[in-house]
Amino acid sequence: MAIREIVYMGDPVLRAPAEDVTVFDKDLGALIRDMFETMYHADGIGLAAPQVGLSLRVIVVGLRGHDDGELEQQPLALVNPIVTWESKEVAKQSEGCLSIPGLEEVVQRPVSVRVEAKDPDGNDIIVEADDLLARALQHEIDHLDGILFIDRVSMLKRRMLLKKWKKIEAEASVDTG
Ligand code: NI
Repeated sequence: MAIREIVYMGDPVLRAPAEDVTVFDKDLGALIRDMFETMYHADGIGLAAPQVGLSLRVIVVGLRGHDDGELEQQPLALVNPIVTWESKEVAKQSEGCLSIPGLEEVVQRPVSVRVEAKDPDGNDIIVEADDLLARALQHEIDHLDGILFIDRVSMLKRRMLLKKWKKIEAEASVDTG
């Protein structure tokens, strides 16, 4: 297992539509284990393969305990996931992204979704999710289509976020010399 390097907004891999996985082999298993390790190390609740520089349709999600007493969810690794149903009911909640550290904004999304995917062994699975898990799945599946959460806020908020990101980027490059 290894912690992989997370790529940041500005890297073209985050904007490219990712490719379907066609081979379910040991390499895929190793990638998924690394993605979990990378996600937990970065204290995230979800990670998509493009965020570690690989344009493949693979996501992992791992929710832990929450303040509101919501139960922990089993860690999920989904390959070639597709949202096949979403609720009409929507909710607004603040989101962040490991590829855009330092930025957060409220994003509106359907409260519930059904996702069809393969598991790491290539078996069909269906996940029905609500609330935070549904939100995490939608956020990660967006990554596979080159979509970031800042694309799902108003133009005005997006402009403010991009301005803030430029500042964060500039400070980071000063820090590293
Ligand atoms: Ni993200």
